[in-house]
Amino acid sequence: MKKKIKIAIAGLGNCASSLIQGIYYYKNVKKGGETAPGLMHNTVGGYKPSDIQVVAAFEVDKRKVGKDVSKAIFAKPNCTTVFYSKIPNLNTKVKMGPVLDGVAAHMKDFPEEKRFVVAKQKPVNVAKELKKSGAEMLINYCPVGSQKATEAYATAALKANCAFVNCIPVFIASNKVWANKFKKKNLPCFGDDIKSQIGATIVHRVLARLFSERGVKVDRSYQLNVGGNTDFLNMLRSERLKLKKVSKTESVESQLGKRLSYDDLHIGPSDYIPWLKDNKLCFLRIEGRKFGNLPVSLELRLSVEDSPNSGGSVIDAIRLTKLALDRKIAGPLISASAYFTKHPPQEFSDEKAKEMVEEFIAGKRER
Ligand SMILES: NC(=O)c1ccc[n+]([C@@H]2O[C@H](COP(=O)([O-])OP(=O)(O)OC[C@H]3O[C@@H](n4cnc5c(N)ncnc54)[C@H](O)[C@@H]3O)[C@@H](O)[C@H]2O)c1
Repeated sequence: MKKKIKIAIAGLGNCASSLIQGIYYYKNVKKGGETAPGLMHNTVGGYKPSDIQVVAAFEVDKRKVGKDVSKAIFAKPNCTTVFYSKIPNLNTKVKMGPVLDGVAAHMKDFPEEKRFVVAKQKPVNVAKELKKSGAEMLINYCPVGSQKATEAYATAALKANCAFVNCIPVFIASNKVWANKFKKKNLPCFGDDIKSQIGATIVHRVLARLFSERGVKVDRSYQLNVGGNTDFLNMLRSERLKLKKVSKTESVESQLGKRLSYDDLHIGPSDYIPWLKDNKLCFLRIEGRKFGNLPVSLELRLSVEDSPNSGGSVIDAIRLTKLALDRKIAGPLISASAYFTKHPPQEFSDEKAKEMVEEFIAGKRER
């Protein structure tokens, strides 16, 4: 019988809620047969979604700290659609994490039910708690702009011998210094910034590549994203967005034959519309020149529940990181990060990255 995958989570927001709901929603998935709707793999190296166990969690919001994870994931300000509510008590109490730069100052101007409300407790020693819990990897779901908090969690993971799965645009797996720290400790790291199942990035990348491969010269493009969850509220401030913009822009640019100037490629979170809640809208336009130097343009509107969209990728990222732990692979996970993140250590086309992930699962590729 396969072992369980013991994970710890930093940040029990909408993405963590969807991921944990998914672990239970897909509890009866079996090896082989047709892939369950919404999953890319029923099993990864023999691991099922239900093999994932949340053994530790860190938060800073007073409505989540101190609760069992099974309750905290449904606490405000989380607003994602609940697709599976029958989460059993996990006997994992949410611990107070270090706040650092996790909570943006502008949030205080919004009603409590829409924003983070910091708990008064003192932060725990994250490394100690990780060790005590037996966690094998730490999943980082802190808000965009949490450079210091992410570094604190990565440092704690290193101390506690945990792998690191970085879902946010702070560069760890794609930063040589940090990646080497994990390599030296014989631990894998995955990242950075999750590329959702059918999100704006993957759609934009695939279309940009299509234009390029069919000989169309792309002149200009934009990708505007709006939503009404705390991720979008947090991203109202441009100073928190620097790395998110880098991550999203480089992800699309890497698929074009030639880089576009800053003026000609505009990508980013664009506004916060509270009533949209966790529904994200993406408006995308690509302009180019085809045969005979004649114009061609494409407009697209994507509407998607934002947080389950990341869950569809993270549920595989966790199982791939576990495979790396089993195989004693240390340092950045090249194929998994290329397929499932926006800012991987090495870029490939999505087609190639998928092929590499399948080879990795089959044991035909080291990382
Ligand atoms: N939704 C997607 O598809 C997607 C895709 C790529 C990346 N991401 C990124 O994943 C991250 C999580 O997204 P989300 O939608 O769950 O955000 P969220 O705002 O719903 O959740 C963030 C959680 O982190 C908590 N937090 C803040 N500071 C913390 C700290 N120092 N320690 C521990 N917890 C802290 C908050 O209280 C909140 O519960 C964001 O950075 C987001 O940009 C999401």
